[in-house]
Amino acid sequence: MLVNMKTLLADAEKGNYAVGSFSVANMEMVLGVIKAAEELNAPIILQIAEVRLKQSPLEVIGPLMVAAAKNAKVPVAVHFDHGKTIEKISQALEIGFTSVMFDGSHLDLDENIRQTNIVIQKAKPYGAAVEAEIGCVGGSEDGSEDIAINCTKPEDAVKFENETGVDALAIAIGNAHGNYKSTPKLRFDILEEVERITKTPLVLHGGTGITPDDFVRCSKTGIKKINIATATFDRVEATVRAAYQNGEIGGYYDLQGAEVEGAYQNAKTHILIFGTDNKA
Ligand code: 13P
Repeated sequence: MLVNMKTLLADAEKGNYAVGSFSVANMEMVLGVIKAAEELNAPIILQIAEVRLKQSPLEVIGPLMVAAAKNAKVPVAVHFDHGKTIEKISQALEIGFTSVMFDGSHLDLDENIRQTNIVIQKAKPYGAAVEAEIGCVGGSEDGSEDIAINCTKPEDAVKFENETGVDALAIAIGNAHGNYKSTPKLRFDILEEVERITKTPLVLHGGTGITPDDFVRCSKTGIKKINIATATFDRVEATVRAAYQNGEIGGYYDLQGAEVEGAYQNAKTHILIFGTDNKA
């Protein structure tokens, strides 16, 4: 069933776990992620970032994501990731996404607060939740920009929370999008301080490459939503490649099956690490 992200994050706070937010690029990934969630009885979030709309147009994939969520046997929120423009954020809301992110992390704090508040007003009539980001998560969602990591200042998180009342807040603690060159050293000191002085559910971007132990530690330290993108794309590609090498692809529908399988396996692994199984 299609649900609001706010509900999933509130449940995650009560249950002390984090919900996986899986980026998808096509129907096969949507089906694979939902298959894993249904099998494990887990709530999940399906998301797509604005930079990915070149490959997967919002007017096509958006309704598909919403329809898949409505038909799922488990709670599924549909989220617009790294919204950059009011135009696309508005389109996602109109399509029925139950949450949107406004990424003002490149702006100074006051301007980020101002623009986030505009998005919150836009989302209100739809009952949709809003995520924002402060500090800079490294890289960009599609690897096209080399954004340096700029860890969140805990006092900025307090100001941001007080002046926006945003539903979810992405913070930067040494995490980055894409594959890490070496195992990331997350700044748990910053995370602990932000958790101590704020009440907003926190979001960890750049999930690919973070160790299972760090995921668990984050989920017990205020992180209630974890974004996974590259791991899904890589797993889908590797599963297809292995299927070809093993002579398992005899035609298009075997290829489609391998794509679903890759997304399913990746989502399953992460749901189990995050402890979201049997939380639907
Ligand atoms: P990864 O590609 O590192 O998993 O990051 C996902 C993400 O944060 C999407 O917003």
